[in-house]
Amino acid sequence: MSKARFLIITGASKGIGRASAQRFLNAGYTVINISRSACDIAGVHNIGWDLSNQDWQASEAQLLDMLPEQAKITLVHNAAVMTKETVADIRADTLRDVLELNVVAPARLNTRLLKVMSEGSSIIYISSTLGTKAVANTHAYVVSKHAVIGQMRATCQDLVGRQIHTAAICPGFTETEMLSEHLGANPEMRAQISANIVLGRIAQPAEIAETIFFASENPVINGTVIDANLGQVEN
Ligand SMILES: NC(=O)c1ccc[n+]([C@@H]2O[C@H](COP(=O)([O-])OP(=O)(O)OC[C@H]3O[C@@H](n4cnc5c(N)ncnc54)[C@H](OP(=O)(O)O)[C@@H]3O)[C@@H](O)[C@H]2O)c1
Repeated sequence: MSKARFLIITGASKGIGRASAQRFLNAGYTVINISRSACDIAGVHNIGWDLSNQDWQASEAQLLDMLPEQAKITLVHNAAVMTKETVADIRADTLRDVLELNVVAPARLNTRLLKVMSEGSSIIYISSTLGTKAVANTHAYVVSKHAVIGQMRATCQDLVGRQIHTAAICPGFTETEMLSEHLGANPEMRAQISANIVLGRIAQPAEIAETIFFASENPVINGTVIDANLGQVEN
């Protein structure tokens, strides 16, 4: 019998994470979500941690107890926060908070989980278009998403010999709460965004989930950055 497969994903209570939980469930994975509120999909196991502070580490046994000693695990670092500030007004505390969730929590989860991840496991990081380029007024987020790509590349090099692969997925604009919060209720802004996308629309979370699933199932994709953005119009 083939080994049980686990998806451990952060931020699957909504958006891209939720769609990913569904995709992996459909493929027969045992799905464990870590976020403050629960994922409402039947069959998903929820762990209610706030990853933006370090308190969750006191209860990490809750996660480890759900896993066998060695398991085939896809670990998806998806939870993130986006704040609005510029280089001129960013506060050190804001930068620390954003990095804690977007970069440090993945590092902490990696060190805990690599102890039980067997051959064939994978670590998939969710970066962003803003992992390789910048726009104004999202300073901390841009810094963190660039860091995530470095984190993925360093992960790849550190895992020589482990038979565990890694990739960073860079979604473009995707129809989720994060996007709605970022854009507000401004239809003109959406039209403007769509006009700069080659396929003329905003991506759906299920499309990004499919890309995450593909990367996790194909070890030939290792140390790689994958854009999932429907094509950007180059000006
Ligand atoms: N949507 C886009 O256009 C877009 C574009 C590029 C990249 N991305 C990236 O894609 C990923 C998913 O984004 P999304 O748009 O799906 O975001 P979303 O709809 O805002 O969902 C974010 C998820 O992260 C969880 N989360 C937030 N703060 C948390 C905390 N302190 N502790 C634990 N979990 C926390 C949320 O759950 P709780 O609130 O329940 O904790 C939620 O499940 C992110 O890494 C984002 O940077 C998104």
